[in-house]
Amino acid sequence: MSHPVSTRIAQQMAELNSQGLVRSRRLSCEIHDGVGIVDFSHNDYLGLASEPLLAQALYQGAQLHGVGSKASPLVSGYSKAHQALEQKLCEVTGHQACMLFCSGFSANNALMKTLFTHHDTVIADKLVHASIIDGVQSSGAKLARFVHNDIDSATRLVIKHPNSALVTESVFSMDGDCAPIKQLSDVCQQYNTWLIVDDAHGFGVVNHTLCNASFVDIQVVTFGKALGCQGAAILASQHVIDYLVANSRHYIYSTALSPANAYLALSAINLLESEPQRLEQLNNNIYFFRQLATNAGIALSESITAIQPVIIGSNQQTMAIATLLAQDGFSVGAIRSPTVPKGSARLRITINSNHTQQQITDLVNKLATQLHSAGLL
Ligand SMILES: Cc1ncc(COP(=O)(O)O)c(C=O)c1O
Repeated sequence: MSHPVSTRIAQQMAELNSQGLVRSRRLSCEIHDGVGIVDFSHNDYLGLASEPLLAQALYQGAQLHGVGSKASPLVSGYSKAHQALEQKLCEVTGHQACMLFCSGFSANNALMKTLFTHHDTVIADKLVHASIIDGVQSSGAKLARFVHNDIDSATRLVIKHPNSALVTESVFSMDGDCAPIKQLSDVCQQYNTWLIVDDAHGFGVVNHTLCNASFVDIQVVTFGKALGCQGAAILASQHVIDYLVANSRHYIYSTALSPANAYLALSAINLLESEPQRLEQLNNNIYFFRQLATNAGIALSESITAIQPVIIGSNQQTMAIATLLAQDGFSVGAIRSPTVPKGSARLRITINSNHTQQQITDLVNKLATQLHSAGLL
């Protein structure tokens, strides 16, 4: 007799399949190697994931502090490597205190679930990351959503729910646009509301002066995007971090980030500080891409960050165009609902500092050809 869970998941997979929504994994070497595919799909905006100096730093961190943390941070998994990274992050962002997690998903989830209860309301931009939504839902807090990046809509909710918390992303992961942090901060301060910012896609690539402790009460940064490695941190006042350290189940009941990774993330931040030309090159490449695409008649969003979405609409057509681009030698993200709202499936093109002008030109030409063949240009 078939197990009821097995029957249910088979039905759900069939349904997803009929909507073109089944997700599956492919080895990255199958996507990127062999046929010389140029990768416009990842979040390694500054090319640090394959930087030899950082490979050495990882090795050095492992030699100095060990490859694994061996325990939860509250038992014996908190080392000098973790402490040094936390101190650096506080220095860079201006927050008083910091705690590290193995991933941004875990940090966001832990933050929401631990800090809030059914007594609270969390006001969130309509497009914030799934890890935030899941965390708020498991906290029992009421969730109130405002129209994406709409300060009027956000203000109405803050007035309705003073003494609450408002959460947004600094750079939106699927749209690449930036939240109006300063304006949100002004409104939040006026109504005694905490501003929480998920800075996953901003940290390391967007000027720190736009997102730091002067405007933001709690900031989450991740190391898997611009830093090219892995892990995340929550930054806040000492009071908030002390509470989270003492109460976050994700933190207490989980092996700490490996000290080698903490050492690596610190080395990545130091490298970015000593090589500002990487960021300059990234911004030049973004500008170059946008100019070429616009000249080719491709409709772009207003994003001026590394994330450049091209909205296609249907899930199937998005997948088809991404597959054709892969055959042409370019890997781009194909993002479907429910990751993005229904009807706004898109190619998520990410620019990085290692792309050459020739690669960007070739991508834009192929993209224009594919969009034209699909009747979208
Ligand atoms: C906005 C945002 N926040 C958080 C995360 C989660 O970070 P991590 O990949 O470190 O788990 C992501 C990653 O997809 C993200 O895009």
